[in-house]
Amino acid sequence: MSVAPTHARTMAITSGKGGVGKTCLTANLAWALARTGRRVLIIDADLGLANLDIVLNVSPTVTLHEVISGACALDDAIVPGPGGLHVLAAASGAADYARMTTDLRERLPELVQTLEGRYDYLLFDTGAGLSDVVLYTASLAQEVIIVATPEPTSMTDAYATIKVMATTQQRRRFSLIVNQAPDEPQALFVSNQLQSVIARFLSDGGRAPIELSYLGFVPDDPAMPRAICRRTPVMETAPASPAARAIQALAQSLETAEATPTKAFSA
Ligand SMILES: Nc1ncnc2c1ncn2[C@@H]1O[C@H](COP(=O)(O)OP(=O)(O)OP(=O)(O)O)[C@@H](O)[C@H]1O
Ligand SMILES: [Mg+2]
Repeated sequence: MSVAPTHARTMAITSGKGGVGKTCLTANLAWALARTGRRVLIIDADLGLANLDIVLNVSPTVTLHEVISGACALDDAIVPGPGGLHVLAAASGAADYARMTTDLRERLPELVQTLEGRYDYLLFDTGAGLSDVVLYTASLAQEVIIVATPEPTSMTDAYATIKVMATTQQRRRFSLIVNQAPDEPQALFVSNQLQSVIARFLSDGGRAPIELSYLGFVPDDPAMPRAICRRTPVMETAPASPAARAIQALAQSLETAEATPTKAFSA
């Protein structure tokens, strides 16, 4: 796959395990970045079970699926969301949408390339698991952000995701956000544990080491589910809440973190 020069930083937010906060964090990080004047588009890549439109209270009339099938134009599917961010929503509730199709494989890279020229950030909110759709979507992003919680199952799945992307897509750099951690020491414990299993089991003397950069953590905060019920980013409903402050700090870390051009070349 040839890769054109890009403007946007493209990031896939993924986790392996479901329900760890990918969609909440993506929506709120996008909001925080958009508020600083960045042009931000979130692409709902949780195909078949998309719910970014619910979380952000947007009502697109057409979605990524119609764009992929050629039934409508890209611009018709992009809708403005809170804080000035843009959303490219996907559909929910049809098994066909969740499948890897030839159309998806062929058209999505072109769409991403077009969008890279229009935005500062493209954020892919992926689904859970390691399906071909999740892996393919992530392969189109320059950077992969892993979301993990301190639960052992989440950490195991985060490691599995890193392992699969490192071995099948030759990706060497990942970032980590620890969600729902009680405090920073416990978030750092998660990061250190993951780094040590990566060093122990995924190091391959002949190749560049796999790097996992800790971006920060978001505490367990009831403001987050309350914001979802109000279908508004926690950054808007409770800007002084611990979660909102942490996400603000994460957005700043992302802005200052060096872009990690690790685009994968095969899914
Ligand atoms: N920091 C947090 N504190 C408290 N609750 C949180 C936090 N982050 C997320 N949640 C809650 O966790 C639940 C799952 O969040 P979310 O839908 O973002 O996860 P997900 O990883 O996108 O799930 P899926 O894998 O199904 O796409 C939501 O009910 C949300 O309110
Ligand atoms: Mg989600």
